[in-house]
Amino acid sequence: MVVIKALRPAIWCSSSGFDGGRLVPADEVRFVQFPLPALSLSLRLSSGNNAKLRLVQATEESSMPITNDHAASISGENLHQIATNGKATNIVWHKSPIGKLNRQELLQQKGCVIWITGLSGSGKSTLACALCHALYAKGKLAYILDGDNVRHGLNCDLSFKAEDRAENIRRIGEVAKLFADAGIICIASVISPYKKDRDACRALLPEGDFIEVFMNVPLQICEARDPKGLYKLARAGKIKGFTGIDDPYEPPLSCELELPQKGNICASPCEMADNVISYLEEKGYLQA
Ligand code: ADX
Repeated sequence: MVVIKALRPAIWCSSSGFDGGRLVPADEVRFVQFPLPALSLSLRLSSGNNAKLRLVQATEESSMPITNDHAASISGENLHQIATNGKATNIVWHKSPIGKLNRQELLQQKGCVIWITGLSGSGKSTLACALCHALYAKGKLAYILDGDNVRHGLNCDLSFKAEDRAENIRRIGEVAKLFADAGIICIASVISPYKKDRDACRALLPEGDFIEVFMNVPLQICEARDPKGLYKLARAGKIKGFTGIDDPYEPPLSCELELPQKGNICASPCEMADNVISYLEEKGYLQA
């Protein structure tokens, strides 16, 4: 008997959409399943049929044993699971033959999202840069998604109204999820003032892979720093709906890390980056 990896004809999806993720019943993504009797599967393994084999590898896998006795052919049509997800109808998930685990092995690290939240002027970008630099020095690949920067391109169509901020965070969360799937340590540095929006981003990732870091710096300090002069403009009424002034910031109720640590308001960016790196090391993210 030849045991090969083959398509499992059941309606499941990864909780995260990642190949390395836990399998859970698909209650949010709806699939239309073409009939595919389990034991009518077989593979043409002759050298001329590599394309068929790759097709099978590119679908959800199980280690179901298939015997040569149960010979039948697999057609491309059989493998399609057509989904409806929000307004996106008739879409089919294509899985890469190289998965998250392969990429993590290559990079010798685990993909995750470090989500830095806090008021403007709280030091989010400074920490993000210090962290990215410290990881780079350790031979680890990180990428920063900075709120201001992302609004220069992908999110330049969004304002600071509540619904646009929500969409800003949703998009950054989705992009961060892709980076994490690529095996990269993605550092999102965004005010992300509303808890609900941050929690929605957390829910996109496998348990543990969303590491929320709260830059707990009081408004008075951020305002005194005012690195971009925006608080001054907001106080003068020249910027409406500025976070902390006339738009709310909802601090995290429970987050993985809070910086600066209590009584350590003057911690340097390097010290704060070291805190995050210790967390990553402890949780095993700096190895494959
Ligand atoms: S978020 O609220 O949608 O998460 P984001 O992090 O993308 O904000 O962008 C925040 C940056 O936009 C600030 O650092 C500041 O430079 C700029 N900004 C412009 N208008 C506002 C505003 N009304 N509130 C907060 N930040 C603003």
